[in-house]
Order: sequence, then C-alpha cells, then structure tokens
Amino acid sequence: MGIKGIQEFLGEDWSKVEALLKGSLHSSVELLDRTNAHLSSNEGKMLRPALSLLVSKACGTMNDDCIRVAAASELLHNATLLHDDVLDDSSVRRGAPTVLSTLGTKPSVLIGDFWLARAMDLVLRCEKHSHEILTCFSDTVQDLVEGEMLQMTKAESGDTTEEDYFRIIYLKTASLFETVCTGAAIASGSDSDSAAAVKEYGRLLGMAFQIKDDILDYEGEALGKPTGTDLKEGKITLPLLGAFKKMDDRKEKEIRGMVSAFPQQPEGCREISATVKALDGTGYAGLRLEEYVSQAKEAVGVLPDSPAKSCLLELADYCRYRKI
Ligand code: IPE
Ligand code: IPE
Ligand code: MG
Ligand code: MG
Repeated sequence: MGIKGIQEFLGEDWSKVEALLKGSLHSSVELLDRTNAHLSSNEGKMLRPALSLLVSKACGTMNDDCIRVAAASELLHNATLLHDDVLDDSSVRRGAPTVLSTLGTKPSVLIGDFWLARAMDLVLRCEKHSHEILTCFSDTVQDLVEGEMLQMTKAESGDTTEEDYFRIIYLKTASLFETVCTGAAIASGSDSDSAAAVKEYGRLLGMAFQIKDDILDYEGEALGKPTGTDLKEGKITLPLLGAFKKMDDRKEKEIRGMVSAFPQQPEGCREISATVKALDGTGYAGLRLEEYVSQAKEAVGVLPDSPAKSCLLELADYCRYRKI
C-alpha cells in the first residue's frame, strides 16, 4: 500500500491534518512566514502524522484531539530537522537546499524553535489530556537533545559501541515515534493495554526506521540517495559496527581514527565505505532491522483486528523495504 495508500485510507482525517498544519505556520514576520510556506510546500514522507492517525484509529475513537496530535508530531519532526541540519552542517534536505544553506545558522535554529513552539501549542489545545500528552512530547524533546549531544561527543571521540549506537538512535529518533503512538493512543481514549502495546510498537518501529536510514546512507547510491554523509559527519553507525566485527583490532582502531578525523580527511570516506561493503556490514545491520520489524509487528498483535491495525503492520514492512 505504501504511505500514499495509507493517506488515502485515512481520507478526511488526513485532509484535516494537512489543513491544520498549513494553518499553524503563519507569522506576521514576513521572512518567517515566507520560509514556513516554502518549507511546507516541500513536505517529506509525512510518516509520523500517518502513524499517529493509524494508532488513534486502531486503538480508540478518532476526534479533533487526534488530529492535533498528528499535526503536532509533524511540526516537531520538522523542528528537529531544522536543528539537525545545523548540527550536521547539511546543505540538502528533501532534494532542496536547507534553510541553513540559504539563510544561515541563526534562521535555521530560530525557525526550528518556531515549529517546536507551534507543535507544543497544538498539544496544549487538546480538549482532553493535554497535560499528559504534553509531558510525552516534552520528554521526547529532552531525548532528542540528549541523542544529538551524545552523537556529537561520540563523533569526536570515535569510540561508539553498539550499545552507544542503539542508545543514540532511541533518543534521536525512536523516542519521537514512541511519543507519537502514546499521544495518539491517549487522545483517542485508548485502554491502557492498547496504549502500552502501541508505545512499544512505536519504539521498535523508530529503531527500525533509523537503522534503515543508516543502511541507506551506505547503499542508497543505486536509489539516487546521497551516501556517505554519516561518515563525513563522523558518525559510526550500525553497518560500520557490523564490519568491525569482521576485522582485527588494529584495522578497527585505524578506521575509528579516520572517522573521528572527518571532515578533515574526507578522502578516507570512500575507502571505509568499500570496506563496509566488502565485509557486508549492511547485511549485519539488515539482520538487526529484521528483528526490530518483526518485534514491532508482534507488539501490535494484541490490538483487535481492524483495517488500521493492518496498516500498522504494513508500516513496519515499509520501514524494512523503503527506498527513500
Ligand atoms: C528523517 O526522517 C530523520 C530521521 C529520523 C532519519 P524522515 O525520513 O521521516 O524525513 P522526511 O520528513 O520524510 O523528510
Ligand atoms: C535524524 O538523524 C534524527 C533527527 C533527530 C533529525 P540523521 O542526522 O541521521 O537524519 P538525516 O539523515 O539528517 O535525515
Ligand atoms: Mg543528525
Ligand atoms: Mg542529519
């Protein structure tokens, strides 16, 4: 079915989320208003609001608060991207120049703050349980900061272990997926068993999503995706950690030194990518990905059967096979 199919399945509820998103980004400051409109016109996959609505449908009753939570999740996600592009010094996002590259660091940080504030504002407007949902969102913002900080520290020291990697991807990515699912469950009036099940599903799905992102950073060339950006940013991700398992300590130490020296020595990037390929590091990461995807599917097993639940199962497979 894919994400577009899921959006069609969500029908009118999806249109409400899109309308709310558009209506949430106005500003009387012309540059901000114009930049927000420009960013909104180049939307990404819109995965988080789709996930949010599916969860609401699968474990409760759809209402206006569910729409607010879904829209808030996309606003917060976009805020993190505006900040992430500053941290990663990224010039391209969604195939277009980043705000960082067109307007600079300060606007990218400020506009990210604006989207973050609008996300919180939408959650606060929930008629029921706004405090509870806001607590989840606020916890996730803290996780995001901790994840990015930890990643930054590890990029400098070059000593990322597999345990560090999984901690980082939980904090920077899976925590938001978890909050999207929990917030959607609470807003829809879910019972506590279903809420616990979708929270676990969200965490596992988020882990799978980021592992796939990290695999695509090595393998996406054939799919027209930019590759090698993680290495350039000094990030040791799962495919490289998988390759380390198949080399001796001396070689591993040498590569770790090269990665933490980036971006000073970008020429080493190609050599490391070739090593990861030769040692099938992405194959290792693919196995971990499969585990997360099947655990995510198991987690929603307890929900009553419904078309929305089937879509949640499909979304887990989408995280495994996606090409963008
Ligand atoms: C990008 O997320 C950040 C990660 C968690 C890897 P998406 O791949 O969902 O970004 P868009 O919104 O579709 O551009
Ligand atoms: C994504 O990290 C997590 C965020 C909090 C935005 P990445 O740095 O891997 O995401 P991309 O590759 O820039 O989308
Ligand atoms: Mg980043
Ligand atoms: Mg990035």
